[in-house]
Amino acid sequence: MNRNLLSIDDLSRDDIERILHRARSFAEVSGREIKKVPTLRGRTVINLFYEASTRTSSSFELAAKRLSADLVNIKSAGSSVDKGESLKDTVQTLSAYDPAAIVIRSPHAGAANLVARWTTASVINAGDGKHEHPTQALLDLYTLFRRRGSLDGMKVWIVGDVLHSRVARSNILAFTRMGCEVTLCGPPTLMPREIEALDCEVRYTLDGLEQADVVYALRMQHERMTGSYVPSLREYAAQYQIDSRRLSPHQLLMHPGPVNRGVELSSEVIDSPQALIVEQVESGVVVRMAVLYELLAGGPGRAAAGAPSHAGAETEPQPA
Ligand code: NCD
Repeated sequence: MNRNLLSIDDLSRDDIERILHRARSFAEVSGREIKKVPTLRGRTVINLFYEASTRTSSSFELAAKRLSADLVNIKSAGSSVDKGESLKDTVQTLSAYDPAAIVIRSPHAGAANLVARWTTASVINAGDGKHEHPTQALLDLYTLFRRRGSLDGMKVWIVGDVLHSRVARSNILAFTRMGCEVTLCGPPTLMPREIEALDCEVRYTLDGLEQADVVYALRMQHERMTGSYVPSLREYAAQYQIDSRRLSPHQLLMHPGPVNRGVELSSEVIDSPQALIVEQVESGVVVRMAVLYELLAGGPGRAAAGAPSHAGAETEPQPA
């Protein structure tokens, strides 16, 4: 596997399967009273978040702590860092601490790729503008894998603001790589041009939604909209909101969070037993542990290169 995780395209199907199995083995650690293994003891992880985050930042933090890494959290939403140069300065400054990994979230597409050029640390993309959010896609795969075992042939509908969604882009790549059939649905104004090239079908109405095994709703990304893409949220909800009339009992419902209640999802479906939204959050910790493990301690070269993980090999979980 690559040194960095910038895009789902960095991962083969085998890589993804290994991460999912590794995450499952870490679930055992999350069930213990003392949720810690010594795998990354003495190594430093830096979380660099230039954009709002609740789930992603807290789960990366817990993941690093549960692996016993030293962690530095830097949050600077609203800072003046929006030019390549000043991000470069920040990364070069932080690299002086010799971190093993830098986790970066930025409002700019391509930011994680730039950071990877400026540091020798492993770089993990925790969301770059509307480009990609690979660990979200992995935790979504893991959530379904835990429920259903195999993902092959599963029909997934991704509904909503596909245009501004990094989650959609990473999930299309990840679901198709794992053998799922992906359909995108939303208003034409919120559908990127030529997105079918990613091997998915595009629909502009919810007709046929009953064929889906999984309905994956996206948040309306107001913060990335420069103009008006839908006549009104009311109108959008009338056409595209997933509610109990539209969701059949056999279907699973997913959403990356945060949810705009009453816009893309009705309250009753959010709180229904079909919704995996809370499980997705739970999956975030073990999947991010698995990603940190793979990048920093997983490969044979890396373990041999001196990661002191074997100091605690007796407590280190093995893949299931
Ligand atoms: C997503 C994000 O930030 O891209 N949220 C998340 O990471 N859980 C999706 C969103 O904000 O809509």
